[in-house]
Amino acid sequence: MPTLNHDKMRPNRLLQSEYGQYYKLYDADSHPQQRKHLIEEICNLVTTTKERRLSPLRILDIGSGAQLLEKELFQKHPELKQEIIIVTLDIVSINPSRLHFPHVQSDAAFLPFQDRYFDLVVSNMALDFVAPKEDTGRRNHLFEEIGRVTKFDGRLIANLHHPNLEIDYYTYQKARTEAATSISKLRKQLSKANGHAQEQIEREILSMQVAINDARFRYWEISRHVFADLDEIREFVANFPFFKIIKIEEQQSDSEKWFHLILEKKNDKIK
Ligand SMILES: C[S@@+](CC[C@H](N)C(=O)[O-])C[C@H]1O[C@@H](n2cnc3c(N)ncnc32)[C@H](O)[C@@H]1O
Repeated sequence: MPTLNHDKMRPNRLLQSEYGQYYKLYDADSHPQQRKHLIEEICNLVTTTKERRLSPLRILDIGSGAQLLEKELFQKHPELKQEIIIVTLDIVSINPSRLHFPHVQSDAAFLPFQDRYFDLVVSNMALDFVAPKEDTGRRNHLFEEIGRVTKFDGRLIANLHHPNLEIDYYTYQKARTEAATSISKLRKQLSKANGHAQEQIEREILSMQVAINDARFRYWEISRHVFADLDEIREFVANFPFFKIIKIEEQQSDSEKWFHLILEKKNDKIK
């Protein structure tokens, strides 16, 4: 494992409460298609670099949540266990019993790893959250950090949020009110329940609390973090001369859109 530095955590209270509760119930906060696509690209990179590699491919997953991407990757391709060393990182505290691979709790804007350690940095629907748009210093710092920990010729492959995730004030209030009404009904049922039924109701209450948090988070936070369109991403990435753009495009599933980004580290002249 690389050297760690835990001093630079900067918790966002809304984000901590959203994901702290979320990961008590769920493993991932992403569409299966997004993870499937990243898994295919990881496999491609393993295959295309196999000949010229002497050691396993080192991968960092930023904003990994409870490692569902990694679980799915090795379920689908168990043969890759010999080819890859993967480290995951997330700012929120996740129950260690859910984590099956080396994991670091840290703020991605200050990566606690040595220079040029990773061949590949991946991130699924997480980089945008590291800094709000108006905090350009912190956002820049994140990409400088990714550049710093990536080897020459290494890559960043990421899915970023699309503004279609934003919600308006009316939808936010409606989601909150509906969830709050369900919680008060469930609390009444809880007072009469026991055993398995009690556990079931407690789980439903938690899922309603997650729904309230989710609406709050989408209304107050997402619009401050998400890139507006592909041009905004291109313009932002152009600030980092050490990255060459391989691909920046919009992708979509049946229900969701997202931005897909592949950058290659061009040179090693990082301060
Ligand atoms: C939309 S979820 C995606 C989780 C996972 N990658 C997946 O595919 O399901 C965003 C993740 O980014 C993490 N995150 C947000 N800000 C972060 C930061 N500053 N540093 C590290 N992780 C962060 C959140 O805790 C959350 O787990």
